[in-house]
Amino acid sequence: MKVMVIGSGGREHALCWKIAQSQKVNKLYCAPGNGGTSLVAENVDIKANDIDGLLDFAIKNAMDLTVVGPEEPLVMGIVDKFEDKGLRIFGPNRSCARLEGSKEFAKSFMNKYDIPTAKYKSFSSYQDAVERLDEFSFPLVIKADGLCLGKGVSICGTEEEATNVLKEILRDNKFGKEGDTVVVEEFLEGIEASLLCFVTEDRIIPMESAKDYKKIYENDLGPNTGGIGCFSPSPLFTEKLMKKIQNEILDRIYYGFKSEKLNFKGILYVGLMVVYNDPYVLEFNVRFGDPETEVLMPRLESDIVDLFQKSIDSTLDYSDVKWSDKHCLTVVATSRGYPIDYKKGYEITGCEDLDRNIILFHNGTKYDNGKLLTNGGRVLSITALEDSLQEARKRIYSNIDKINFDGVYYRKDIGK
Ligand code: AMP
Ligand code: GLY
Repeated sequence: MKVMVIGSGGREHALCWKIAQSQKVNKLYCAPGNGGTSLVAENVDIKANDIDGLLDFAIKNAMDLTVVGPEEPLVMGIVDKFEDKGLRIFGPNRSCARLEGSKEFAKSFMNKYDIPTAKYKSFSSYQDAVERLDEFSFPLVIKADGLCLGKGVSICGTEEEATNVLKEILRDNKFGKEGDTVVVEEFLEGIEASLLCFVTEDRIIPMESAKDYKKIYENDLGPNTGGIGCFSPSPLFTEKLMKKIQNEILDRIYYGFKSEKLNFKGILYVGLMVVYNDPYVLEFNVRFGDPETEVLMPRLESDIVDLFQKSIDSTLDYSDVKWSDKHCLTVVATSRGYPIDYKKGYEITGCEDLDRNIILFHNGTKYDNGKLLTNGGRVLSITALEDSLQEARKRIYSNIDKINFDGVYYRKDIGK
């Protein structure tokens, strides 16, 4: 089979790493890929949002399967375009991708099907929004409706802060059209967890749980990032909690899909806040998470290409998805200044000195004349799969200092 992965992050490197292990695959492409994907696949210089370019490449190369990493092409409708041409592609269609592409759409879906989530109101007018802030208590959360490169969510402690954020989005068009509408919602205090699921026409099959670290500094301080550390499984997921998630969330999502005639196929990432053992949905993503994928792929024992194929054909069953009992932890080495402002192009050294047991996924790197250079805010995901979380932690932290580049930074408390 010829397979193409779309995207260029650590998630895509982890997907390529896993796909390359499949006996079924004899040619793997990654568009546009990064330094890491070039070690297991052939990078193709087409951007992830260049749908026509990707389609053209897939047709010319008789691609048997395309796997979409990031949300942008999904929200743009890449799946519909590929399917129109008779090409097999793994991911939800444009209509279903609105669950990530529009916070308002996702929230109204949750309300309609009684899926527990923070109470919210949506606004398109700055004046209306400001006048009705008194219906919320502080802190509250303001979210731009559309895709904003992970920067669309603000937690506001005071009315003044909230008014400023509303002004930036609704009046000054900080996010352009993506901020034409905002969702204002109640702040939930609890523990976050990610549950990714394979979705077919017949069922929603949850993967193993993962815990993502979002804040840049230790003890969860500082600004939000895309995720700078992660481990799986998360001990939060007791049998009791999983039952609740199944009954109150997954079953209702499934019922909602059927009722709305949303033919969702692909990955649904349910971002959860667990408040005193009660799960609430913070957000839906319609794709694999990053860095969740970096800790899930090493634990997955099944052939992932098989899972993709069966998902597309809606023949996937629970027993097809097999997991190792081991614990996987990843720590992301980032560039100084990330997530606000950072430079790229510094040489990375030390990757060859890591223990053989370390799995190194590249987030933002590129090879230039044989040298590995930084090429993003998140640079490398140093990953270990061990019998316990503590062993994985030990393995990573006894290796990570071997990696060096100008301004390298990582959190020391991942998995603690
Ligand atoms: P989202 O993109 O909606 O997941 O928001 C990004 C991050 O903001 C989440 O991962 C949470 O850390 C935080 N967040 C979002 N919504 C809420 C909420 N209602 N209460 C508390 N934190 C939230
Ligand atoms: N780790 C969060 C995300 O992928 O959106």
